[in-house]
Amino acid sequence: MDPRLLAAAREAMERAHAPYSKYRVGAAILADNGRIYAGCNVENAAYPEGICAETAAIAAMVVDGARSILEIAVMGAGQELVTPCGGCRQRIREFAGQKTPIHSCGPDGHRRSFTLGELLPHTFGSEHLT
Ligand code: THU
Repeated sequence: MDPRLLAAAREAMERAHAPYSKYRVGAAILADNGRIYAGCNVENAAYPEGICAETAAIAAMVVDGARSILEIAVMGAGQELVTPCGGCRQRIREFAGQKTPIHSCGPDGHRRSFTLGELLPHTFGSEHLT
C-alpha cells in the first residue's frame, strides 16, 4: 500500500462533515497519474443527500482529469472493518479493475486489504453497453 494513502485518508477523515451519524470516513485514491485524491463523507440535514468519502474522492480524481484508480484506502473509526458501501463499490468499479486493491484502515492504521473483485464480483460495467 502506498504510504501516502494512509496519511491522506486520515487527513480527509478528520475533515468529514458527519454531525448526524458521527461516523467520520476518509478515502484516498492513488490514480495512474501518480497523484493522490482524497475525500470525506459530507452529510446533510436532509439525510439521503449526504455523500460517502469514496464518492467525494472519485469526484476529485475525475475533475482533475484522471480516470484510473490504482488503489484506494478507506478509513473509519471503531473496531469494525470499514469497506465501501454497495453504491461506492460500483462507483469504484467504473475506474478500477477486479484486481484493484481496496485497503480498509482505522485510526490505528492499515487493517486489511481486499480486491475489488472480492467485494463486488460479477459486476456490471461499460462493456455491457457496447
Ligand atoms: N460512509 C462512507 O463515507 N463510506 C463508507 O464506506 C461507509 C459509510 C459514510 C456515510 C455516512 O455519512 C456515514 O458513513 C454513516 O453511514
